[in-house]
Amino acid sequence: MPMTYQGTVALITGASAGLGVEFARQWAERGADLVLVARRLDRLEGLAAELEKRYGVTAHAVAADLALPGAAAALRAELDARGISVQTLVNNAGFGSHGPFARQDPAQINEMIQLNVVAVTELTRAFLPDLAADGRGALVTVASAAAYQPTPAMAVYGATKAFVLSFTEAVGYETRHSPLRVLAVSPGPVSTEFFDVVGSRDAAVGRMATPEQVVTAARRALERSKTPPSIVAGLANRVSALAAALTPRRVTLAVSGRILKA
Ligand SMILES: NC(=O)c1ccc[n+]([C@@H]2O[C@H](COP(=O)([O-])OP(=O)(O)OC[C@H]3O[C@@H](n4cnc5c(N)ncnc54)[C@H](OP(=O)(O)O)[C@@H]3O)[C@@H](O)[C@H]2O)c1
Repeated sequence: MPMTYQGTVALITGASAGLGVEFARQWAERGADLVLVARRLDRLEGLAAELEKRYGVTAHAVAADLALPGAAAALRAELDARGISVQTLVNNAGFGSHGPFARQDPAQINEMIQLNVVAVTELTRAFLPDLAADGRGALVTVASAAAYQPTPAMAVYGATKAFVLSFTEAVGYETRHSPLRVLAVSPGPVSTEFFDVVGSRDAAVGRMATPEQVVTAARRALERSKTPPSIVAGLANRVSALAAALTPRRVTLAVSGRILKA
């Protein structure tokens, strides 16, 4: 079954900025209806109105803080109550921070794990049975080039993304007999609000991609007749990920620590 946009609904988390806005744009351009989720409702409503007008799709803006316990179940319940069923889930919302782990704010560490790990897991659990039964859409999770080696100075962030990569690939394998496409996409640095949130440019390693380049790479991977379990967006990032896998762990760790100025 080819990847379907028209007549399907894509739920995109983190759709108020950066990659999420671009996922929404590219899916709407191809005729998908949207559920746009993030905390900043004004931005979601602005984007929903723009995409509805431009592409003639239906876009729902739903404000949710996905770092709060129970957020995934609450979102699923809200969509059920509104009679909205979802064929594609893009787990995109996430954030990082930079600095020595021992000096990180414990509340912020918890928030990062809640958003990057718990919300991704719970949203996937809440929607996967329906996604797989329908099979026209996709499960996409945004990991990171940081998933491919430990990331000193971003210790928790890299670990959350390693989880996301492993989890998504495993779920993709489990659902291999369904037509559902499952993909983990790992960008290197992308020109979004990510580094404003991180609060340090030391985390921006390598050439900045645009959101359009990353989302286009993800979409093309999904549209292949055989969707790969994961992609690393950008040639230089692919080479780094491969080098990390082939190099002794101690060396990879030291290189990563130096690059991230740990
Ligand atoms: N940019 C990069 O260099 C890069 C590289 C590799 C991977 N990534 C990954 O790409 C994904 C998207 O990031 P981005 O680069 O597009 O960053 P961004 O521009 O900062 O966008 C992050 C999005 O996540 C949402 N978000 C943050 N906290 C949230 C919460 N508690 N509940 C609900 N939504 C929340 C934000 O919306 P609100 O603030 O309105 O809630 C925003 O829409 C993330 O998973 C990130 O880890 C980014």
